[in-house]
Amino acid sequence: MMKKLSAVIIGAGGRGYHTYAAYAEKHPEELKIVGVAEPDEARRKSIVTAHDIPSGYAFTDWKDLLAIPRIADIAFVCTQDRMHVGPALLAMKKGYQIVLEKPMAVTAEECIRLETEARAYDVSIAVSHVLRYSPFFSRLKEILDAGTIGRVMGIQHNENVGHIHYSHSYVRGNWRNATISSPMILAKSCHDMDILLFLTGSNCLNLSSFGSRSVFMASNKPAGAPDRCLDGCPHRVSCPYYAPKIYMTQNEGWPVNVITDDLSMEGRQKALKSGPYGRCVYACDNDVIEHQVVNFEFENGTTAVFTMSAFTPQTHRTIKIMGEKGEIRGAMERNEIEISDFSSRDKTVITLDSSESGHGGGDDKFVQAFLRHLNDPSYPLVSSLDKSVQSHLMAFAAEESMKKRTVVNIEDFRRSSCPSGY
Ligand SMILES: NC(=O)c1ccc[n+]([C@@H]2O[C@H](COP(=O)([O-])OP(=O)(O)OC[C@H]3O[C@@H](n4cnc5c(N)ncnc54)[C@H](O)[C@@H]3O)[C@@H](O)[C@H]2O)c1
Repeated sequence: MMKKLSAVIIGAGGRGYHTYAAYAEKHPEELKIVGVAEPDEARRKSIVTAHDIPSGYAFTDWKDLLAIPRIADIAFVCTQDRMHVGPALLAMKKGYQIVLEKPMAVTAEECIRLETEARAYDVSIAVSHVLRYSPFFSRLKEILDAGTIGRVMGIQHNENVGHIHYSHSYVRGNWRNATISSPMILAKSCHDMDILLFLTGSNCLNLSSFGSRSVFMASNKPAGAPDRCLDGCPHRVSCPYYAPKIYMTQNEGWPVNVITDDLSMEGRQKALKSGPYGRCVYACDNDVIEHQVVNFEFENGTTAVFTMSAFTPQTHRTIKIMGEKGEIRGAMERNEIEISDFSSRDKTVITLDSSESGHGGGDDKFVQAFLRHLNDPSYPLVSSLDKSVQSHLMAFAAEESMKKRTVVNIEDFRRSSCPSGY
């Protein structure tokens, strides 16, 4: 039986509250939330009430929570991208075990530093590479490890971001601008770098990358379009991004619950009139790229190509894995894996359980695995810290390759990223 553990939430937003604190609500025998740091009053009050957090353990800033002696076993660091390193470093000094949201940091040097410090303080850090725990990618890994298609020669992996998802998060929303959050390859695709590392089971040697943006820009704004959709846009019928079409529907979940806490139609209208999500997609302060390809060479000889694109109908990951004895095609959101065997010429279709939500069930399995690991350190984490650092380095290297138009060797990149020698 697992010992029940306690945790504090740093940043009670989408991840902190709706993913990790939600896990504690579903599994009160495993996890109890005992403290929070969250500046947004409504969010702080909600989590305090839902988890019965004592008033002395509810703070507006992570610095205050981490200024007092340690009050729990685990700290969930769920602040925005540029605010991960400070709380993670202080939390490990205080002796917390850490769940750290991805990206772990926005520079390669900081990622390496986090790894070095975690070793020095002897704490476990689980970076939320939750896809490794999803039934879809776990099953793919099992199939590969069983040798079903022989040696893996090549992988084509696609992250179809979905045009509406892209407009919400990467044109109007929190991850629209690399100086505010992080580059697209890190913000969105560090999961995909990590999945390639996971499936190949081999280190990446070299990579090259190309990508650009040319659509969601002021120069493409249609004639007569105002800066805000609700200011009488003449293109409201033809434009797929007309904000009321996305946010003023029956949906009360994501992405509508991101734009306002008041989900009434009046509340949403107010948010669209004044908030970032009511802006014309051609009149935002976005700068992250819209499509990118990365080519990889792995130590074991596997080659891979990754494509991220905003311009797809749905949010959807698809993969083709080419082995010496067969081929696998997979569609994550359809929960479907098809295996073609070269010798028998048989095709086997596996349909996975699709009942779990949150990265296909990966979110909850990730937390569960970390709790088990803390209960019994011999229980391995499939997303170990060194692998997470490697996959982050792949993302930083891809960004560098795209910008400098060069092939990047990962080991050289690691050395040059960390002149201080962590
Ligand atoms: N693992 C995944 O698959 C996954 C999915 C989505 C987001 N993320 C990552 O999780 C992180 C959080 O994303 P989110 O969607 O929950 O964002 P969010 O904006 O909903 O939550 C962040 C919270 O941090 C709070 N905050 C700001 N300053 C703070 C401070 N000084 N002290 C304490 N809290 C503070 C904000 O008020 C907010 O509530 C991001 O880095 C994001 O990239 C990971």
